[in-house]
Amino acid sequence: MTHFLFCVCQLGAEPAIKAELAVLRPELRFAYSRPGLVTFKSPSPVAPDDPLPAVFVRAFGASLGPAEGPPQVHTMLSGTCPQGQPVRLHVWERDVTRPGEEPPGFRYGPRAAAAREAIVATWPEGQHPLLPGEVAEVGDRVLDVIVAEGEPWWVGHHVHGPGHSPFPGGRIAVDMPPEAPSRAYRKLEEALIWSGAPVRPGDVAVEIGSAPGGASYALLRRGVTVYGIDPALMDPVVLDYRGAAGNRFIHLHRPMSLVQRADLPPALHWVLMDVNLAPQVALITARRLAARPRHALHGVLLTLKLDDWRAVRHVPRLLASISAMGMDEVKATQLPSNRMELFVCGLTRLGRQRLTGP
Ligand SMILES: C[S@@+](CC[C@H](N)C(=O)[O-])C[C@H]1O[C@@H](n2cnc3c(N)ncnc32)[C@H](O)[C@@H]1O
Repeated sequence: MTHFLFCVCQLGAEPAIKAELAVLRPELRFAYSRPGLVTFKSPSPVAPDDPLPAVFVRAFGASLGPAEGPPQVHTMLSGTCPQGQPVRLHVWERDVTRPGEEPPGFRYGPRAAAAREAIVATWPEGQHPLLPGEVAEVGDRVLDVIVAEGEPWWVGHHVHGPGHSPFPGGRIAVDMPPEAPSRAYRKLEEALIWSGAPVRPGDVAVEIGSAPGGASYALLRRGVTVYGIDPALMDPVVLDYRGAAGNRFIHLHRPMSLVQRADLPPALHWVLMDVNLAPQVALITARRLAARPRHALHGVLLTLKLDDWRAVRHVPRLLASISAMGMDEVKATQLPSNRMELFVCGLTRLGRQRLTGP
């Protein structure tokens, strides 16, 4: 049993994690950190299935410490995991820059793939059968190996369940089509995969702050009709889009304060927001457009900008105000593509029913 917890976050978000854990888990003491990785010491043993509902933590688990190579990883595994239990292996690279600032041509993956190959080559299959594939399923015992250039690997483990991403290190694989107008395409796809928000073809959405159109383009490709509010110009790929089912984009080419509820269809399924304004200000319009009666509303998908990491203290209040927009369930995270911002998904009763229904 280890007394250490590891948390992985966006490079630079370490102060946010420390602030969040000071509130959520005041008994923990900061132990060690590297860019994008923070460990804490607990007065009691840390179990691999301990929950941690922290917004800025992308991946977490019981921390086993540094390893110089596969033999040490295998020894750590045998010391913590019951004999015969199958294991899912997650190997990933810590962030090398803030999101969107990667050097040209850089991509995450090759370094982790090489480490994974080395670990798998001598895997003690007789003691711990290796589960095929990387996407974790509920109840899986996951061995976490975090790699970074010029440093030993950092090893941990967890049991997959609520609050954990099924993907190694919480990094969600999204292929961005070359014609996508902005990296918000990736952001929205990550948001939909992370939240499981039941967005379906035929739905109608409004996006507050839609230009140049990455997120709208992702929705259009999913068969959604999108009303985009933005005084800035939309990319022609969005304006000219015509879906097979007739879905398209309608530009409300003005600031959000000049959009009335009557400018939107009565049957609106989703309200999205991604404006570069303080969340307290931006949420006024989201609330006005989503407010009851909105009989068809399934949920809100909101990007909230933060001025700096000290804004973390406002997060509980912001989530409470989104909950008060008629949401049955609200959850938040910092997605891999989020910069100084976080993503919030709120689902109404209808949205939840669609999620759980047949
Ligand atoms: C981060 S960008 C949005 C990216 C967009 N969601 C995409 O998918 O490409 C923020 C946008 O908010 C818009 N914005 C800022 N203030 C606004 C306001 N008062 N009303 C509407 N849009 C606003 C800006 O014009 C800008 O296009």
